[in-house]
Amino acid sequence: MYSTLQRLNHLSSLATTYIMILLGLVSIASLFALPTVDVGKVDVKDLIVQKGRLRRWGAREEEIASMRFDIRTDLNPLLNSYNTKQVFLYLTASYDETITGNTHDVVLWDRIITRGDMRDIRAVGKKLPKSKGGKRGRGNVRVEEGKNKYAWRNPSGSFRDIPTANMTLHYSLMPYVGVLSSGVAATAQGPVSIPELIKR
Ligand SMILES: *[C@@H]1O[C@H](CO)[C@@H](O)[C@H](O)[C@H]1NC(C)=O
Repeated sequence: MYSTLQRLNHLSSLATTYIMILLGLVSIASLFALPTVDVGKVDVKDLIVQKGRLRRWGAREEEIASMRFDIRTDLNPLLNSYNTKQVFLYLTASYDETITGNTHDVVLWDRIITRGDMRDIRAVGKKLPKSKGGKRGRGNVRVEEGKNKYAWRNPSGSFRDIPTANMTLHYSLMPYVGVLSSGVAATAQGPVSIPELIKR
């Protein structure tokens, strides 16, 4: 005869096993249904290079680039999945230095989109263009007049040897269960030219 405790123990271990199997299946199913995203647009505006200092003690004066940008992309395919916990978006500038040949990838802006945000993602810019009749998509990302959140500096202290940079908005999809997947959500139309230093 089993005691009540033993029965309970058995039941709970059975339940745990079933849950593990279920989670395994969900993660496998999500792996096969990895969403694809149409690459949207990043518009870089007002890119300037100025002398400045980072806000930290003892920072030397160096060239710092800053910019404004618009983003338009449709992430509905990512957000429609029941298994999407959150989406991490980040904008990078990647560029080569002509003299040293070093390649750099710099994160300029990022944003986490949680399930709660998914009804309407736009909260970054000041103005939102009027939607023309159509209903707002749940995952239509609109950033208007966004500003780089992180300082853009070059390790050499200067942007002289950098003619252009590629701007890319990446996404990382974090599921409730299963593997993280990532890809490109938007890009600028071709490389963006880095302007001359503004002399004061
Ligand atoms: C920038 O993009 C172009 C084409 O889109 C590519 O050929 C080049 O290698 C990229 N540069 C960097 C630094 O990623």
